[in-house]
Amino acid sequence: MPTADELKQMAALAALEKVEPGMRLGLGSGSTANHFVKGLGERVRAGLDLIGVPTSERTAQLAIAEGIRLATLDEIPSLDLTIDGADELDAQLRLIKGGGGALLREKIVAAASRRMIVIADGSKLVEHLGAFPLPIEVNLFGFGATRVAIEAVAYRFGQPATLTRRLAADGTPFVTDGGHAIIDASFGLIREPEAIGLALAAIPGVVEHGLFIGLATSAVIASSEGVRWLHA
Ligand code: A5P
Repeated sequence: MPTADELKQMAALAALEKVEPGMRLGLGSGSTANHFVKGLGERVRAGLDLIGVPTSERTAQLAIAEGIRLATLDEIPSLDLTIDGADELDAQLRLIKGGGGALLREKIVAAASRRMIVIADGSKLVEHLGAFPLPIEVNLFGFGATRVAIEAVAYRFGQPATLTRRLAADGTPFVTDGGHAIIDASFGLIREPEAIGLALAAIPGVVEHGLFIGLATSAVIASSEGVRWLHA
């Protein structure tokens, strides 16, 4: 039986086959995306020429160590393809992302890409989104008021959620690459992802939320039976 990490690597390597010379590529964040970046590094060192836009400082560091040429979205505002992991995805390729705290840059990069391939082990594919707490990136100014506004949205949708401010490993408040906080909202089940996403995005202190809808164009899911592709 392959381990979860081996499955993540299988998905990452299957997606790597879709990478072509000269591509402008969004590089995701997280342990599955790390496998992709490492595989890409090998191909780059073997002569593949392309340019990557990282979705986090950690991915940028890894990509640099792998010898991958990087650029920003200011230099290259539109990308051919982004390859990134997810915390959950459903059959319609709606995603929850942000378990690693990189959701803002991940969403900006995905939205700037013509295509997005999600790479995941089979445990991430769910019937209904929401068992994974939804990460919501929040501005530090007015944090308390924003938290109350998020609670109010959850109530309005008849889905009261437990909200937890994310902490770093050392117990201090987690801070994103953009200098914001993360609130993890445990819904259990998100019945109307599109509507709740719009309502959360309309709260002034919410910088971004982890519902990615209409962004993924394909997903590659690895399980002990092998790799399978889903398409939007
Ligand atoms: C990072 O913020 C996330 O969106 C990751 O893509 C997501 O948490 C998946 O991470 P793993 O690949 O580590 O499971």
